[in-house]
Amino acid sequence: MKLIALLSLVLSASVAAQVPAPPVPPQNPITPAKRVLGKILFWEEQLSSDNSIACGTCHQPFQATADQRLAVHPGLDGNPGTADDVIGSFGVERRDEFGVPVNDALFGFDRQVTPRSAQTVINGLWAPNGFWDGRATSQFVDPQTGLVSIPIGGALESQSIGPILNDVEMARENRTWADVITKIENATPLTLATYVPPDMTGAIAVDPTYPDLFEAAFGDTTITAERIAFAIATYERTLIADQTPFDLGTMTPQQQQGLNVFLNPGSRCGICHAPPLFTDNTFRNIGLRPIPEDNGRQGVTGNPADAGRFKVPGLRNVGLRSNFMHNGRLSTLGQVIDFYLGINGQIQFPANQDPLIPGIVMPPGAVVDLIEFLSGGLTDPRVAAETFPFDRPILHSEQGDGDRDGDVDSDDLAAFVACIDGTVGTAVVPGCERLDMDGDGFMTCSDWSSFELAWTETGPVPDLGLCLSTPIPAASEWGMIVLALSVLTLGSLTFRKKVSRY
Ligand code: HEC
Ligand code: HEC
Repeated sequence: MKLIALLSLVLSASVAAQVPAPPVPPQNPITPAKRVLGKILFWEEQLSSDNSIACGTCHQPFQATADQRLAVHPGLDGNPGTADDVIGSFGVERRDEFGVPVNDALFGFDRQVTPRSAQTVINGLWAPNGFWDGRATSQFVDPQTGLVSIPIGGALESQSIGPILNDVEMARENRTWADVITKIENATPLTLATYVPPDMTGAIAVDPTYPDLFEAAFGDTTITAERIAFAIATYERTLIADQTPFDLGTMTPQQQQGLNVFLNPGSRCGICHAPPLFTDNTFRNIGLRPIPEDNGRQGVTGNPADAGRFKVPGLRNVGLRSNFMHNGRLSTLGQVIDFYLGINGQIQFPANQDPLIPGIVMPPGAVVDLIEFLSGGLTDPRVAAETFPFDRPILHSEQGDGDRDGDVDSDDLAAFVACIDGTVGTAVVPGCERLDMDGDGFMTCSDWSSFELAWTETGPVPDLGLCLSTPIPAASEWGMIVLALSVLTLGSLTFRKKVSRY
């Protein structure tokens, strides 16, 4: 009893603590030019082999920088629709070294899906090791030289170089750093994105190419894997969600009550999810799924004691997420709590399970308060609304996807019609930015044709006659068109003649 009282005292004392400053390795200090370059790279779809995906595609702020495009990975048994499925993130379609599509055993010619769910990047900056299993190490080794570039505190740098060459996430097979660097050297920064935030457009206006942006950040125009990693990690270290009702002391009485439940020795949440980060950054096995499906930390350390252990996720902004846990299989906070209590059909798997989990109890009625605390008390409104520093551009792959589910389909068509409001040429109203395909601030017929191109449902987009107001060439203009066409035809005939002469 005494121990429990002491524990709860320690827990309540630590609640008052502020979010710690992000640890910054001395080898990679934060500078404004590096931060903005990192932000541009994080949202750059051209960093992928096929221009289809950026880091930000899977890490969206309004989703607590996780992913709400619900993608199913069939899990260990290879069959979708079974209990071992994982809700992961859509990556790239599989392509070989030459960019030729490859028929993948699990996903055919469709987008591949990651075998774990996307974590939030916002909580990642304090983690000594990155990823669910901690395989992104604190020591960062430059992948081009093999030399240690950050001995300690470089987990974000280590992590950031993974997806760029990963042939599920962003790359074609056998992609090299030389390929990535040549591509970036010749790319126009963020040319595929619309509604680019002012800090990014400002930087690009001064330094319009990637070599220029790297020069501003690092002193010369050389692009290296290490510099890409340094810039991206710097941006991530500035994504600090420290303005939650919990931080500001503005929680409602019910949220405060929920915090008490959270810290209560019976519920035990606050032991692993220790405030103020709501994680102690340890690896624990809560018994979510049978170990053979994914042995977690053991896969990195080889230690049987680590079987089924995953990183305790920080819970800041957890209320913005649409799916939870390393396998993404719990879809409400209510289900998460049912799991910890082992009720309502949620089963725990006892092999190597953390001894704290099976004894979790909560007073009746406490669950409602706990959910209220988790869903509201820990949300930074700037993350939810995607305002600075959590603002970002609209990606090419999101244009037309009004409801942000990863597809451009009938729901988005209804949104398009509502946004264009029957009158072609209307100014974009807030909420319609994703349907203003070219980002020019107006809903026009060119947006409609781009929308038709982006359509992902089978069959053509229903013809709504939306763009009948497109000016049809006047009779006088037809003469010019015929003339232009015949000049072109003659030109090509002359060309053909010339070729055949040799
Ligand atoms: C295809 C979707 C996808 C893309 C693209 C992607 N990620 Fe991730 N990210 C994930 C998934 C899934 C995980 C968890 C993987 C795991 O733990 O095995 C993750 C984990 C992370 C983490 C770890 C957070 C923590 O707490 O340990 C960071 C940081 C991160 N990603 C940053 C990035 C950066 C930077 C890029 C671009 C260079 C990127 N991601 C591209 C899906 C993606
Ligand atoms: C023994 C340590 C431990 C205790 C106690 C614990 N958790 Fe967790 N929690 C974890 C770990 C580890 C995960 C990730 C597990 C996985 O994915 O396999 C997790 C995941 C979560 C998630 C999902 C977060 C996300 O981003 O996917 C929520 C929400 C959560 N816990 C809330 C709670 C609540 C509420 C309690 C108290 C009833 C609690 N936890 C008790 C260790 C713990």
